[in-house]
Amino acid sequence: MAIITERIKKHFNITLKLRVSGIYLAVTSAALIVAAFFVMTAASNTLYEDKSADLFAKANIIAESMVQTDDTEYVKSLMSQSLAGTGIRGALLSSAGSVIYDTVEQSQSTGKILSGGVIAAAQAGGQEQELTTAETGELILSAAVPVNDRGAVTGTVYLTRQMTDVTDVLAQLRLCLIIFGLFMLAVVFLLSISVGAVVTSPLSDFISTAQEISKGNFDSRIKLRGNKEIDKLAEAMNYMCSELEHLESKRRKFVSDASHELKTPMATIKLLCDSITATENPDLGMVREFLSDLSEEVDRLTRIIDNLLAMTKIDSGEIQLSKELVDFGMMLQKIKNKLTPLAMSKNITVTLDVQADMMPVMIDYDRIWEAVYNIVDNAIKYSKIGGGVLIKCGCTAGELVLEVFDSGPGIPDEFKERIFERFYRLDDSRARETGGTGLGLSISKEAVLLHGGDLRAEDNPDGGSCFIMRLPINEESDKRS
Ligand SMILES: Nc1ncnc2c1ncn2[C@@H]1O[C@H](COP(=O)(O)OP(=O)(O)OP(=O)(O)O)[C@@H](O)[C@H]1O
Ligand SMILES: [Mg+2]
Repeated sequence: MAIITERIKKHFNITLKLRVSGIYLAVTSAALIVAAFFVMTAASNTLYEDKSADLFAKANIIAESMVQTDDTEYVKSLMSQSLAGTGIRGALLSSAGSVIYDTVEQSQSTGKILSGGVIAAAQAGGQEQELTTAETGELILSAAVPVNDRGAVTGTVYLTRQMTDVTDVLAQLRLCLIIFGLFMLAVVFLLSISVGAVVTSPLSDFISTAQEISKGNFDSRIKLRGNKEIDKLAEAMNYMCSELEHLESKRRKFVSDASHELKTPMATIKLLCDSITATENPDLGMVREFLSDLSEEVDRLTRIIDNLLAMTKIDSGEIQLSKELVDFGMMLQKIKNKLTPLAMSKNITVTLDVQADMMPVMIDYDRIWEAVYNIVDNAIKYSKIGGGVLIKCGCTAGELVLEVFDSGPGIPDEFKERIFERFYRLDDSRARETGGTGLGLSISKEAVLLHGGDLRAEDNPDGGSCFIMRLPINEESDKRS
């Protein structure tokens, strides 16, 4: 499995690196080809235009001198001198196109008739040039200029030159461009490989961290590398890991706390059962007492299991609030009545103070009943014998406010948040004595939060503590009111 994932990782990295390099190379090649094309076109146009302008200039000077003098020998010598060493071959043609003079005398072209192409154009009075390829493959540039004597074409100056020097320059330029292009491609390739590495190496971290998470190791983190976007992603992933780690530790704590809570009554039940079975001819009174203890422990187990089921329902998001209009004052009265026996057993006076004109509110009756019941139950449970509990309720500025004052020991500031945690009890042994599981307040808080409200503990100015519950009054109840 590890080998396969390692291969996937490598393959993924290689393909991504190759893709990055491929894109860089393709873009650079296209840019270089276009640039080389423009450079070559501009260079060849400039060179050819330069050479053809030179040919025309020379041909025009010769044609002009032919008009100005009848001395053909003078013109021949002018022509031979001006073209000497230039690589240009010149010919003087009669008006009929027969060669009068050729600077390459050994060609024995004198007397031959030349026609067509640029010569025909010159004979018609125009000036033209053309680029042709000789049988040897060389490029030849030709230009013909008419000898225009008072409107009549009396001859033609015909010049040709091999373009070897130009093609050599262009070939050298092409070679330079190819070398430059290959060099640039090599540089771009190396750069793209390093860019690809910058992009893919953090991905390996992401892959290995994801693998660690899938194995349940939530403590692995991705190193930040100073790359803004990738670091943001790494931070998001690290945040996810720490949240998972937090959730996992909460889950473990919940399981261990729950097992611990279940173990205590189970141990007591086992002890009671063993005591009864170990005693020969047990006294009926003793059996009754043990059975009543057993019944209490079973009640305690049932309470814990009910609370645990409620917690798991909340955690799984299964709970759907089914809201209805509730007469809150009436609900408080019922809770008070239900807890009266407990209050009487401790000689505690429970006072209910509900705002006179309180309208029904839209809430999930069962959830809020459970929440309020637990708060009032706590207030009575933890108040001193002969003390008092005050339940005050009213509506202000779009919310219902319930305050439960008790005459208990109060809650130190540092525990005012913690008492809402699951299984958290301030004084474990005392709370256990009162039959508490430490789940009541966390269930109450969840119910209030599900309603978009808030529940917190504060000090009672007269001693003891005060639990304040705020519930938003939604539109339906407002409309009714
Ligand atoms: N009114 C109060 N005065 C003093 N301490 C309180 C009060 N209400 C709650 N506590 C403390 O907060 C702890 C958590 O309360 P919570 O209601 O969650 O659990 P419990 O009452 O112990 O058990 P149960 O799950 O049966 O309600 C209690 O164990 C107690 O230590
Ligand atoms: Mg409680």
